[in-house]
Amino acid sequence: MTDKATFADYKASADYISDRIGGATPDVAVILGSGLGSYADELTDTVVIPYREIPHFPISTVSYQKGELVYGRLGDKKVLAMNGRFHYYEGWEMWQTAYPIGVFKLLGIGKLIITNAAGGIDESYRPGDLVCVNDHIKLSPTSPLRGANIPEFGERFFDMQRVYDKTLIALAKEKAEALGFTLKEGVYGYMTGPQYETPAEIRMLRLVGATLVGMSTVAEVIFAAQCNIPTLCISCVSNMAAGITGAAITEEEVLETGKLIKHRFTSLMSEIIKAI
Ligand code: HPA
Repeated sequence: MTDKATFADYKASADYISDRIGGATPDVAVILGSGLGSYADELTDTVVIPYREIPHFPISTVSYQKGELVYGRLGDKKVLAMNGRFHYYEGWEMWQTAYPIGVFKLLGIGKLIITNAAGGIDESYRPGDLVCVNDHIKLSPTSPLRGANIPEFGERFFDMQRVYDKTLIALAKEKAEALGFTLKEGVYGYMTGPQYETPAEIRMLRLVGATLVGMSTVAEVIFAAQCNIPTLCISCVSNMAAGITGAAITEEEVLETGKLIKHRFTSLMSEIIKAI
């Protein structure tokens, strides 16, 4: 196992980013999921920082994800977007997949929006639906915070009941309604991947209460909870989960759905960020 980062590592990453963005404190950080990275194009006056330039930052290996931080403005809001994130299935340790959250905390970022592509387990969902995550289930044993605690980020043991922020969820639903669609709510079941699930695994996830399934997000949400960063998570249902339609699940389909809902996703994100 790679040794966990120290507080000094997080600080070095944050100081580097802070220098590059002129010492600004972003209002919100946004993590863009598979097929949703083009949202960064909405920002103006941008500063683009490739992950490889940031001390101690992991480097994303997913081919279609860019691997860069984009700082910019949306109206009067200062936004720091991650175009490309880190997944456990790429070989990173769980703490590495959540590393940016500690950096965001040190940058003084007060709110986090996490997006992802997910399989739909609830049969009322349809590919292309946007769903607001109000809770999650992590069946894999490890945690991003396993190992020595860094007290500057929070307590060793901490509450997980408030991180999916109810005020942000209400705001997101209101903005969706105003744009003419309903933002459903759901529970995200985390699976490590990279294989998609078997039909039996999806039946199990449904039984335990998951309505969505995906391979990201949960590590970041856990670290955000420790750091007390209110978080909004929006999933794009890219496909129905295994066993529901019987169709093969492919990466192309996941990315294609992201493109199809681009307009709706972009409008919703922008309305939320402007009101945050
Ligand atoms: N399973 C896991 N992760 C996913 C899926 C899925 O069906 N679709 C998009 N990401």
